Amino acid sequence: MGKNLHIVTFGCQMNVHDSDRMAAILKAVGYNYTDDVTNADLILINTCSVREGPEHKVHSQAGIYKPLKDKNPDLIIGICGCVAQQKGEDILKQISYVDLVFGTDALPILDKLVLKAEQTKERICATTFQDDESYKFVEILPDYSKNKFSDFVTISKGCNKRCSYCIVPFTRGKEIAKPYQLIIKEIEKMVSFGIKEVTLLGQTVNSYKDVKNDVDFSKLLKLVSDIEGIERIRFTSPHPKYFTKELMDTMAELPKVMSHIHYPLQSGSNSILKHMRRQYSTEQYIEQVDYLRKIIPNMEITTDIIVGYPTETKEDFNDTLNVMKRVEFENSFSFLYSPRPFTTVFETENITPEEENKERLQILKELQETISKNKTQKLIGSVQEVLIEEENDGRNKNQYSGRSRGNRKVYIDDIKGYKLGDIVNVKIISGSVMALKGEII
Ligand code: 5AD
Ligand code: SF4
Repeated sequence: MGKNLHIVTFGCQMNVHDSDRMAAILKAVGYNYTDDVTNADLILINTCSVREGPEHKVHSQAGIYKPLKDKNPDLIIGICGCVAQQKGEDILKQISYVDLVFGTDALPILDKLVLKAEQTKERICATTFQDDESYKFVEILPDYSKNKFSDFVTISKGCNKRCSYCIVPFTRGKEIAKPYQLIIKEIEKMVSFGIKEVTLLGQTVNSYKDVKNDVDFSKLLKLVSDIEGIERIRFTSPHPKYFTKELMDTMAELPKVMSHIHYPLQSGSNSILKHMRRQYSTEQYIEQVDYLRKIIPNMEITTDIIVGYPTETKEDFNDTLNVMKRVEFENSFSFLYSPRPFTTVFETENITPEEENKERLQILKELQETISKNKTQKLIGSVQEVLIEEENDGRNKNQYSGRSRGNRKVYIDDIKGYKLGDIVNVKIISGSVMALKGEII
């Protein structure tokens, strides 16, 4: 009889994609995926440690499953992802009913770890980094038995930057580029399963360099674009230091490259950016964004911003508001600064009281909402190219949804004989803050 696996995922797209691949790896050794956790023989919690909030969820989430373990001692509970990488054995010490802890580099041996936990009932911890060239990128694809038209491919792992606030280099290790042939092979396989849109994933995705084969990110985009069957290409997240003019021109030249980037600014103040060791100025960032918007029609730009960085003054915060007004991001994700272990600013005391930082966050969010609504209104009446991806999404039955080139969710009531996976032109009739609704023309 088959066994059942349930995975709960916190954090970024890298984690979402890792979870999908874990499910595929474990399917090969007899674990079928179930949405019903009460039915699971193996539960994995894929964790995020980028801020303190998500990190705390590890304990509360594990606590939810404790009664299941009490009822069924054979149930295996595993913790993986960034918190597992960071805390390792400590998790086994702190949470008595956890059986398995594995880090971000353990995917290639995941099946063996699970079988060992099953057979020996030993508590296992596998968090060694595989930080060298011999690191094997797992070639197992997610399970494409369900209708799926868009998916991720990891092109590099880890991060070589040392932004002062960021824990990622400590939880994901050194940057290693996946050999380009593997990427191409993987995408070709994805196409054979019906995938039409691929999102290239990396912490600083555009710093990609396959040194042996002299393939940089621009060249990789061209190679992916040459793959027959791939209709759309996205990538996330680019770092300003590697956003060269050549890369921007390449994006403009390749119609398959979509007109959206998620482009983390982090702060609109040059002194904060310097303290953060971000390696660019707001002027450089703005120049890049202006150029992209000039050469790529309807380019949409979203961003991440950290509010209340320890040395952030009122003036610094005002600079961020000003850059936001100047760039007019389509959308932004803003976070209150959260001190993370190992990072260089961990011990730095915050010069601003927390209440004031929370107010700043609120002001920033309100400004963004106004800008977003405004931009969305401007799209009403426009025609957007949409890949139809889902049926019955949202509350309305028989409603379909997909994504525009600019990465907006577009709802469509009647797909007029088209089917999931088709790319159609949609005239936009209404919009909310970010999402759009329209009719196929
Ligand atoms: N505190 C708050 N936000 C953070 N991010 C990364 N580290 C921190 C931190 N210590 C944000 C950045 C990044 C996003 C994924 O999370 O904006 O782009
Ligand atoms: Fe973190 Fe900076 Fe690396 Fe992004 S570039 S993952 S913010 S260290």
